[in-house]
Amino acid sequence: MNDINILGIETSCDETAAAIVKNGEEIRSNVVQSQISLHQKFGGVVPEVASRKHIETITAVTQEAFVRAGLDYRDIDALAVTNRPGLIGALLVGVSFAKSLAYALGKPLIAVNHLHGHIYANFLENPGIAFPCVCLVVSGGHTSLLYMPSHHEYQLIGETRDDAAGEAFDKVARFLGLAYPGGPSVEKAARQGQPGLYKLPRIFLDRDNFEFSFSGLKTAVMNLWRKLEKNGQADVNNMAAEFQAALVEVLVEKTIRAAEKYQVRTVLIAGGVAANSALRGTLAEKAQAQGLEVFYPSLSLCTDNAAMIAGRAYVQYVSRDFASLDLNAYPGLLSL
Ligand code: KG4
Ligand code: ZN
Repeated sequence: MNDINILGIETSCDETAAAIVKNGEEIRSNVVQSQISLHQKFGGVVPEVASRKHIETITAVTQEAFVRAGLDYRDIDALAVTNRPGLIGALLVGVSFAKSLAYALGKPLIAVNHLHGHIYANFLENPGIAFPCVCLVVSGGHTSLLYMPSHHEYQLIGETRDDAAGEAFDKVARFLGLAYPGGPSVEKAARQGQPGLYKLPRIFLDRDNFEFSFSGLKTAVMNLWRKLEKNGQADVNNMAAEFQAALVEVLVEKTIRAAEKYQVRTVLIAGGVAANSALRGTLAEKAQAQGLEVFYPSLSLCTDNAAMIAGRAYVQYVSRDFASLDLNAYPGLLSL
């Protein structure tokens, strides 16, 4: 087959992104316009503000992706767009834009599930990853464990019952007065602190299933913090360190148990929280002791980007999994 260049578009949350990927593995351009500074003063993403900003920037971001790749609009073989899950208004901007471009250029359109994109970020950098795998997707909106026997099958084996891991980082950061997004600022504070000085629960660790719950952990942080403040013993760095340790321990243990149960030798982590060095380090160490091989994307491919969408779309291009021009956007997962 000739080289296949796919344009990916991603607008599911607060990043406007466009990228061109060749044959599912060579990133020719990867443009990400973050809206973080816009949402920072609200302490979280404001959906309506996100949609409006996507509309303002999507054309320029896409243009830039072509310029950096040294390609003309007519040179691409297909367009891919995230159509689920995410903020509905934000998703609709990308979907409408991609549909009109596909129509104007007469090129096929591919609808990509955002979670599949996050997982695929691993294959962009390591195309030879062996199946079957267990994947831990940890982002602002999701905490899911998946069994993946091939590029075309995803079986959800457990997820969070309430807050996602990234959401917990963001909410705890806000409570402790740390900057948005919470993940990087809690990680930074945790590096100055020590886990174990305060005691937080490892929620659901004792349960023989692959479910998670982080809302209770956030409440435990709040209750303990108020007590510590009364006694004049509240230290933000030690709290950040213990919170991060409690969350990471549960994620790592359950992922390793899933690898054992499903008898896989390969573990992938993906999503914004996969950028967390405590999670990466602990998982790598524990997995190695079990003889497992762990993959995680480089930092810039952990958080939202369109290269992962264009890369994932190549698998769908090869199997002729195309969308029609009446494609819609969906806030939820539908089927994985
Ligand atoms: O994947 P992503 O960019 O967007 C979603 O699909 O949700 O993930 C964003 C989430 C945010 O909650 C952010 O706080 C978290 O990923 N995050 C981190 C780190 N970097 C980003 N969490 C922990 N440690 C980090 N270093
Ligand atoms: Zn994401």
